[in-house]
Amino acid sequence: MRVAIYPGSFDPVTNGHLSIIHRGLELFDRVVVAIATNPKKVPLFSVEERVQLIRQAVGNDPRVEVDHFQGLLVDYAHQRGVKVVMRGLRAVSDFEYEFMMANMNRKLAPNIETVFMMTGEGSFYISSQNIREAASLGGNVEGMVPPGVLLKLRERFEPKNG
Ligand code: PNS
Repeated sequence: MRVAIYPGSFDPVTNGHLSIIHRGLELFDRVVVAIATNPKKVPLFSVEERVQLIRQAVGNDPRVEVDHFQGLLVDYAHQRGVKVVMRGLRAVSDFEYEFMMANMNRKLAPNIETVFMMTGEGSFYISSQNIREAASLGGNVEGMVPPGVLLKLRERFEPKNG
């Protein structure tokens, strides 16, 4: 059984992430979407909300598991007995950070390999950060995020009366 961990903050999950998950399933039998929780960062959505939004977006596909972890990614991968970490690359600007992270992880755990997938051509401009920013300022992010996320963003940022 070929399994990959797809780690990230997923705050929130975007159509770019979903494209990576779906394409990952062409290469792996199972993908574990692993939300990294960082106690030093205040997320827009709680980990429970992020888990639920990803589950909703992938439907009932039994090949996708959604989990969360705290601490080192390589420790989590060891605990899960998984040797492949999958990450998406959008543009050259992602490369430096991803290159450093992959090499750091390889130093920490030489038996774990990082594989990169190019983001689908329709999603190269989408990041959770710019989704949060656009939505918070009233921008319409329809088509960039799954419908459940769109709804949740609208609830979160809709102008309150009174
Ligand atoms: O979606 P993101 O925020 O780009 O994901 C980054 C993430 C969560 C994959 C990365 O920060 C991570 O692996 N965090 C866990 C802590 C860790 O292992 N750090 C050492 C790697 S340099």
